[in-house]
Amino acid sequence: MIFVADLHAREGAEDALHQLLAALAAATADEPGALAYSVRQHLDEPARFQVSEHYRDRAAWEQHMAAPYLREALDRFPQLLQAPPSLASYAERATLPPAPLSVPEAIRQRRAVRHYRPDPVDPAVLDELLELALAAPSSWNLQDRQLVVVTSEQGRQALTHATGGQPQAQEAPVMVVFLADCQAHTRDRSDIWTQARANQAWSEDFIAFFAAQSQAFQEALAARGALREYAIKDAMIAASFFILAAQSRGLATSPMNGWDEALVKRAIGAEQRDDLAVALLVSLGHAAAQPLPPGRRPAALQVFREHLPPS
Ligand SMILES: Cc1cc2nc3c(=O)[nH]c(=O)nc-3n(C[C@H](O)[C@H](O)[C@H](O)COP(=O)(O)O)c2cc1C
Repeated sequence: MIFVADLHAREGAEDALHQLLAALAAATADEPGALAYSVRQHLDEPARFQVSEHYRDRAAWEQHMAAPYLREALDRFPQLLQAPPSLASYAERATLPPAPLSVPEAIRQRRAVRHYRPDPVDPAVLDELLELALAAPSSWNLQDRQLVVVTSEQGRQALTHATGGQPQAQEAPVMVVFLADCQAHTRDRSDIWTQARANQAWSEDFIAFFAAQSQAFQEALAARGALREYAIKDAMIAASFFILAAQSRGLATSPMNGWDEALVKRAIGAEQRDDLAVALLVSLGHAAAQPLPPGRRPAALQVFREHLPPS
């Protein structure tokens, strides 16, 4: 919810009104539901001020209206203003894209979001997120993962069914299925070293070593039934990169592990593909509301130096 208020200061009250509005902006900055609050002074007519306020939703606006500092400010308006402020409310229709969050900010602000607004995801942003997901590292750089992006109503309905009716697939405009490609080593992968050679990242000696050893490594995994486990790691780290990249672009996600694998595969046309395993589903969209952080157990229970404590 966006409100714009025009205020006209009484003669001689310009500075006092400026200070009052600046203090109001500083106090509002601590409200969790306040997305923007801007105080402007007219360049040619310094008695004229404009306040532009943006709240996440009606509840956030009601919280602002009930704040004691707002009540105090409103009580002072008759002394400072020539007339009651003129108020108008707006809906956002276009805006500059927000600056991307830093990695630490994205990590701290990310939450598993289960409810989404119906607004679509900008296709250019989605393409960038997919590119960043594929920039994730993988074992031997073998990139044993495949991503299926589902945006159609029909596809999301099928995924809703596959996830037992969870709201994410129903509401989020984009679902991405992260697949582990468990048999990738049986197919031609020479493009990987051709690219590394072209980038001057790998020497000819390393390429010869890589081609032989990575194959032997994958065959050893196959022999001990660990191909799926290894490919799932590659798919999961790509999903993690995707989730953080989305957060940094102001989008919300939820990782999802609650699904029936056969139904997910059927939804994406992979029911015959025994070589693929579903690693994770990730919903992507604009959050309908930001969940509160559930918190984490203290590091003392999860992080140890050099050795685990005696059990
Ligand atoms: C591998 C994995 C699978 C998850 N599966 C689901 C799921 O199926 N449905 C769901 O609503 N949330 C799912 N979550 C989200 C977790 O419940 C959530 O991350 C956790 O409660 C912590 O909340 P936070 O991410 O907001 O910090 C999953 C998270 C992970 C990492």
